[in-house]
Parts: sequence; structure tokens; C-alpha cells
Amino acid sequence: MTIAVTGANSSVGQKLLAHVVASGGIDVIAGVRSERAADSLPSSPHITRRIISYDVGELAEAMRGASCVVHLAGILIESKTSNYADANVAATVSVVQASRTADVGHIVLISVLGASPNSANAFLRSKGDAERAVAQSGIPATIIRTPILLGPGTAGADALLRTARRGKASLLGGGGHALRPLDLDDLCRAILRVCETRPEGVSTHKLVGPEPISYRDLVIRVADLLGTAVSLRTTPVWLAKLGASVTSRMRGGGISPTVIDVITTSEEVHHNAADDLGVSLTPLSETLNKILSAETEST
Ligand SMILES: NC(=O)c1ccc[n+]([C@@H]2O[C@H](COP(=O)([O-])OP(=O)(O)OC[C@H]3O[C@@H](n4cnc5c(N)ncnc54)[C@H](OP(=O)(O)O)[C@@H]3O)[C@@H](O)[C@H]2O)c1
Repeated sequence: MTIAVTGANSSVGQKLLAHVVASGGIDVIAGVRSERAADSLPSSPHITRRIISYDVGELAEAMRGASCVVHLAGILIESKTSNYADANVAATVSVVQASRTADVGHIVLISVLGASPNSANAFLRSKGDAERAVAQSGIPATIIRTPILLGPGTAGADALLRTARRGKASLLGGGGHALRPLDLDDLCRAILRVCETRPEGVSTHKLVGPEPISYRDLVIRVADLLGTAVSLRTTPVWLAKLGASVTSRMRGGGISPTVIDVITTSEEVHHNAADDLGVSLTPLSETLNKILSAETEST
């Protein structure tokens, strides 16, 4: 089986490639946007690195021969060089059109809990628009909506470690919002299983971790594992948004009120798609231990 992966240098992409290398039976066309990103990918006879643009013709050429494309490229934090319209929506529309041209039989889109074309939040709206482009493509597709992803090297894990180490930290809204952290390995297993089984039609799944936990409790748990104490205070969400609205405008990106709304919203899911996607979920304690072990190994 050959699959194509966009955004292969993303934290999800890097982990997915590690799974591919370990499993041995899958070949990957790993699409990235620069030589630097290509250099960050693992070397393996199963991985073909491709510098891609999101020009439909070029993308179709790069993806030719793949039975499935896993579309990972996407952003939460806008910058001077990347915005939601390009990274989340236009890139997905190009992947859909290129899949049609290259006769790729299945699209896997990694989306986010709360994605909706009708959302008042610009990030969630862009992910909703991306979902709609995939769902209306006429190509069989699996959309997986995920919560915060935890594993060595994810943005969520890095932020947790930084906060827990700080001694004194101030959490947005006191960190009372509930999360359903998903182990990155579990997401990768789900993605590869979908690529293998290629279900018919279009389905949308919400895949979350096994344990609900508030952000505050998560920070305290990580601090305990690190053997440090952390004293927590509260930054009112309205105040953080006021500051972020000024700084994100001045810098042309970064943490914005949109991002703050996303990261302080409780992740609520009534049906976890783990069984539907054939994944057995890693306990949160095991996920946190993996993050800490990887940290210790790298220092
Ligand atoms: N991390 C999470 O907790 C989380 C939670 C829910 C959903 N997701 C989704 O999972 C996917 C992967 O997330 P991640 O955190 O692993 O990503 P990441 O590490 O932040 O990497 C982002 C990827 O998007 C690419 N990209 C940025 N701007 C682009 C543009 N304008 N056009 C095309 N590609 C662009 C980047 O390429 P360059 O390196 O070349 O800029 C990179 O490959 C994303 O779609 C994200 O929305 C992630």
C-alpha cells in the first residue's frame, strides 16, 4: 500500500512516519514545503520525500500512485506567512482536486473538535470549510476530529512541560476547562487503519482520549511527575484576549483572541470513535510517562 501525506513534517506527520517505519509494510509519499522540512523526515526505503506546492497539477503529480492521502497540513496559530484561508481551506481544496486528478481513492482529513462552517470562531470555521470541501468531493473520505494531541514534540505537550516547570504559572481562566487529551500514537494507529480499510462513503469521527481532565489538573499531574511544585494563579480570559488582540495585530499573527477561545473551550464528546476506528486508547498516565521519558532521553 502506498499513501501520500501532506504536512509530513508536522508533529502528527513525524509520528505517523515513525509508525510507518516501524510497521514496514507501507510506502509513503511524504509531502513537505521546503528542503529544510524534507531534511527533518526520517530516512527509510519506505519514505519518498517530495517538496510539494499546493498547485493542483504539481500536487497531483506528487501524489500519483497513492491509494489514500492523509491531509495533515493545517495551522491553529496564524503568522505573517500563513493564514487560515491558505493553510486550512485552500490547501484542502487543492488536495481534493489533486486527489481527483491523480485518482487517489480515499482522503483522510485530520480536523478538530468543534469544526463547523457556521462557527463564529475563524479557526473552527476554516476547519469546517475544509471538512465540507472533503465531504462534498465525491471521493470516499474519513474525517477525524481530534482534541489536544499529546505525545513527545506536540505543541500541547511542550506547553504543558513549560508551564509545569515554571514554579509559578498563571493559567487562562484558571485552567478549569475540561480536556480529552488524545495520545498521538493512538491517532496514528487510527489513521493507518483507515488507510488500510478505506471505508466507503464519507464519515466523520470524534476521536478523543480515555480520560477527561481539567487543564489545571493536567499541569499539576505533570509537575508531580517532574517532581516539582507549581503554584497556579488565574489570568482572566477577557484580559488575555484583550492583550492578544493588540499583540497579534502588531505582529501579524501569534496568539490571538481566536486561538485563546479555542484553547480555553472544554472538549466535550458524547460518543468516542475509538471502537469505530478500531483503536484501543492509551491511558493518560502512560501518555504522560512517554512525554517525560522522551524529554529525559533528549537532555
Ligand atoms: N496538535 C494538535 O493538538 C492538534 C489538535 C487537533 C487537530 N490538529 C490538526 O492536525 C494537523 C497536524 O497538526 P500538527 O500540530 O502536527 O501541525 P504542526 O506541527 O503545527 O505543522 C503544521 C503543518 O502545516 C503546514 N503548513 C503551515 N502553513 C501552511 C500553508 N499555508 N499551506 C500548506 N501547509 C502549511 C506546515 O508546513 P511548514 O513546516 O512548511 O510551514 C506543517 O507541515 C493539523 O491539520 C491540525 O489542525 C492538531
